[in-house]
Amino acid sequence: MEYDIKNPDLAEQGLSRIEWARQEMPVLDKIEETFAKDRPLEGIRLGACMHVTTETANLMRVLKAGGAEITVSASNPLSTQDDVAASLVVHQEIPVYAITGEDDETYYRHLNAVLDTEPHMIMDDGADLASTLHKERPNQLEAMVGGTEETTTGVIRLKAMAADGALKFPVVAANDAQTKHLFDNRYGTGQSTMDGVIRATNYLIAGKNIVVGGYGWCSRGIAMRAAGLGGNVIVTEVDPLRALEAVMDGFRVMPMADAVGIGDMFISATGDIAVVDTHHFEKMKSGALVANSGHFDVEINIPGLRGLCDADPQRPRPFVDQYTTRDGRKINILGEGRLINLAAAEGHPASVMDMSFAGQALGARYLVENQDILGDEVYVIPAEVDQEIAGLKLDAMGIRIDTLTAQQAEYLSSWQHGT
Ligand code: ADE
Repeated sequence: MEYDIKNPDLAEQGLSRIEWARQEMPVLDKIEETFAKDRPLEGIRLGACMHVTTETANLMRVLKAGGAEITVSASNPLSTQDDVAASLVVHQEIPVYAITGEDDETYYRHLNAVLDTEPHMIMDDGADLASTLHKERPNQLEAMVGGTEETTTGVIRLKAMAADGALKFPVVAANDAQTKHLFDNRYGTGQSTMDGVIRATNYLIAGKNIVVGGYGWCSRGIAMRAAGLGGNVIVTEVDPLRALEAVMDGFRVMPMADAVGIGDMFISATGDIAVVDTHHFEKMKSGALVANSGHFDVEINIPGLRGLCDADPQRPRPFVDQYTTRDGRKINILGEGRLINLAAAEGHPASVMDMSFAGQALGARYLVENQDILGDEVYVIPAEVDQEIAGLKLDAMGIRIDTLTAQQAEYLSSWQHGT
């Protein structure tokens, strides 16, 4: 078996951390039981481009139990947990191509190693596999049953492809399940982003002005958790509805150009480019910390900041690059502007990935079962699947809920009742 990882000797450590995460992933365990029995992915070669974490390793075990033949590459150069990569290779016998800190050339070599296996299905986090397949390997599209996509940024890219008529297989947007974005994007990103910022800096959040770029589900979570730690949160937005919601949630809202002069810490999670741009750096306070929690490392214009400095940055601690501007200010970029929650911390906690990855596993099954009727479009996971995941999670948490009485069900389906 071929693979490219840092060190297979790390496998035992990886396994014990994977098992630790598994304790918080009861929904995946339940799905594994049915997958082992029904084998819905039998005969499917599955290429996955995902963050190689303990949670992902648990998903891979479930997909393998369902019959899939899997190859994995990293979806971000900094997010790979090398011990997990080792355990996937040694214990699960899954070829993995992922090494923390890999350069861009290695990243794409790894991604192409996955595509060399000629997958029938891809599981993407950011749509790099889908985009490379369509741009560089159109001859492989014919064999594709479909793909799933984990993140908002990837879904936006895939919807743009579908709108252009360029998408050539069906995609299930795992991200768009309610049991994904309402929980993972908000509670997962919220907690793990603050975890990453704190691990990188050991800074106190209380009393600081924390500027959060955007007010989508990820940014909402970040704002909520930063406020919970005592930060004075300022939100920047381009969408009037979201801006209004941020105001009513109790946050100050203003343009980034106004926030830069007062912010102590900036965390962007918009999915868009140059949210913190060169002209913002010109006005930023000395000592400011700047981090990104969006999928790609484009939200902070780091080359623009470098252009304001004479020298390369210093690295006072891992994950902190300190730039000194010509006018003597020190600006700190965390995690090289890559996803701070996965670069400096361990990504979303297992309990929340349990639901996101349940959506991935059931999304993969949905693609196989419906391959004859699905078109080349981006599909949301059916509402029943969402309900099933939420129900399994509640069961696992030991939480019971009410059911509609016959009278209530009749009332909801009738139009005759009124005042
Ligand atoms: N994305 C965010 N957090 C993650 C995690 N823990 N594992 C895999 N993908 C993630």
